[in-house]
Amino acid sequence: MEGKNIIVGVTGGIAAYKTATLVREFKKRGANVKVVMTPLAKQFITPLTMATLSQNPILVDFFNPENGEWNSHVSLGIWADAYVIAPATANSIGKMANGIADNLLLTTYLSAKCPVFLAPAMDLDMYAHPAVQKNIALLKERGNHIIDAEEGFLASGLTGKGRMAEPEAIADYVEKFFKSSQDLAGKNVMITAGPTHEKIDPVRFIGNYSSGKMGYALAEECAERGAKVTLVSGPVSLTPKHPNITRVSVESANEMYLAATQAAESADIEILCAAVADYTPAQRAEHKIKREKTGAMQLDLVPTQDIAAALGKMKREGQMMIGFALETDNEESNAVGKCERKNLDFIVMNSLNDKNACFQHDTNKITIFDRSGEKIAYDLKPKKEVAKDIIDHALSLMNRKK
Ligand code: C5P
Repeated sequence: MEGKNIIVGVTGGIAAYKTATLVREFKKRGANVKVVMTPLAKQFITPLTMATLSQNPILVDFFNPENGEWNSHVSLGIWADAYVIAPATANSIGKMANGIADNLLLTTYLSAKCPVFLAPAMDLDMYAHPAVQKNIALLKERGNHIIDAEEGFLASGLTGKGRMAEPEAIADYVEKFFKSSQDLAGKNVMITAGPTHEKIDPVRFIGNYSSGKMGYALAEECAERGAKVTLVSGPVSLTPKHPNITRVSVESANEMYLAATQAAESADIEILCAAVADYTPAQRAEHKIKREKTGAMQLDLVPTQDIAAALGKMKREGQMMIGFALETDNEESNAVGKCERKNLDFIVMNSLNDKNACFQHDTNKITIFDRSGEKIAYDLKPKKEVAKDIIDHALSLMNRKK
């Protein structure tokens, strides 16, 4: 962890006394530590203890009341390589899940660009409450790392799940993340994501239900693992978070084709995750098409470029190409056929027949087929975890080829 910058966030729970040991662990392992506390956390552990151990002043207020000096949560968020909130109480977890920003720990959370780790700690009934579990699940879906609470003796005298993970275990978790997480350093990744819109006239288009969530999760995963990512994105309501992601916004299949082929020139890995229109209107009406009084309306469509197939033809030695197949029927044979036809290294199949998977959902259920005939089926998971599975598979194939 030598030279890593870590913010330790302390919220007001009795496990805060263990956070002193956590700060010491990070320091012992070579990290620079700054501690942010909620006002209530100061009642559980003194700022003096934390300042002494972290060798940095403690941040609690938005500004220093004595000299008015501003504690910038934005620059703190940029400074950090990781933000570790331990203990994370039910209250703070609820606020983080809902975007509430009434203290410095929370504003820092909302502006953090780095990976965030949460170590929940609370009494067993609070931990098991559906509201808390829902908030934890939501934060996990958004890419936060949850270091699960442990079973054992609780401060209330009860025994159950809710104890904060031990400081050494939290430090091990973060250290392991740093070690494994830079396995895409030096690699360029091009990802297509979202739908395309094919204009019919100035107010109408042909589109589809793709939200871009899977492609954006892949972009975040690759960026966190050290890659430089070019995200060629159709119209979606998402914004990339990681500074290593450069987004190229496009609208039509043709614009996506041009941007993707350009980005592919320097790409080591190409992930074709976009739901690209297969056909586009032969002509785009200059003015809004009026409703005809009688008869059917005819719209002439012409095929678009198959971006994946075009990139498959241009593929260089050592370049890896990953495609997606969204199927409704003959799932396996369709997916395997596309893998061959488009010259992909492997294809990720998701099916509209699976509940809570594919379009719009925050979760997905995938099966990977590769050229060697290997088939791996995964469980339903948050899209960020699905992204991790896909990248792990890509790297294991790349390593096998070496
Ligand atoms: O549409 P289809 O099922 O053939 O899509 C399979 C794969 O091809 C996906 O990875 C998709 O992003 C890609 N594709 C593309 N350009 C198209 C159509 C599909 O890149 N015009």
